[in-house]
Amino acid sequence: MKNGAIPRHVAVIMDGNGRWARERGMKRVVGHIAGMKSVAATVKAAREMGVRHLSLYAFSIQNWGRPEGEVAGLMDLLGEYLERETENLVKNGVRLNPIGRLDRLPRGTRDALEKAVKKTRKGKKSTLTLALSYGAREEIVDAVRKIAAEGIRPESITEKTVERRLHTAGLPEPDLLIRTGGEMRLSNFFLWQSAYTEIYVTKTLWPDFRKRHFVKAVETFMRRERRFGLTKPRRGGAR
Ligand code: FPP
Repeated sequence: MKNGAIPRHVAVIMDGNGRWARERGMKRVVGHIAGMKSVAATVKAAREMGVRHLSLYAFSIQNWGRPEGEVAGLMDLLGEYLERETENLVKNGVRLNPIGRLDRLPRGTRDALEKAVKKTRKGKKSTLTLALSYGAREEIVDAVRKIAAEGIRPESITEKTVERRLHTAGLPEPDLLIRTGGEMRLSNFFLWQSAYTEIYVTKTLWPDFRKRHFVKAVETFMRRERRFGLTKPRRGGAR
């Protein structure tokens, strides 16, 4: 194994639900429903492999522009997921960490999230970050606004100043970013955080993604050389 270490933080762009449904002549929302199984399988796989932080890109700011019915369907699914899985998260010591411009979410979704966050807040084993109404550029803009509002002197601004004001403050940077559905882009996800992240793209559509796919991505990561701009590879996860 080149860097040998299990990634501390894995982020996932869950793509391909629409195509999966279309291939079956069904509505897009059916693909999202099927994608819930992959969410559960991935959370479990990450836990079993000892990945401490898992982040899932569940709903982008840009996704607000989708048809009303699809957006409502996704919000309902999120509510269902929280209803069904929160106890399981508590049992496994997983802390739920929703990030994004959450104030845009419907009242019911926000309430359900708040409840689940409260119930899981003592989870010490791992974190499950759900990016909802999230956009990386918007996140950076929000951080810059905070810096300006705090009246911080320009010459004292460092990377840390920005990092501490991102939605992901306190989380390590992702070591591995998995994208399903085959597209080779970041789609406004973790732009700041992914500066040195290893990217793994699979053609597997999200609703088909299971533990074996996750394991394969992690194994591929473990064989990669990570140099962080240096000449020699560095062993292990973080910078
Ligand atoms: C992208 O597929 C996927 C989404 C926009 C939503 C992801 C949501 C889920 C997997 C279900 C709910 C999530 C949680 C955390 C409970 P797409 O529709 O863009 O697919 P396409 O590229 O094939 O059109």
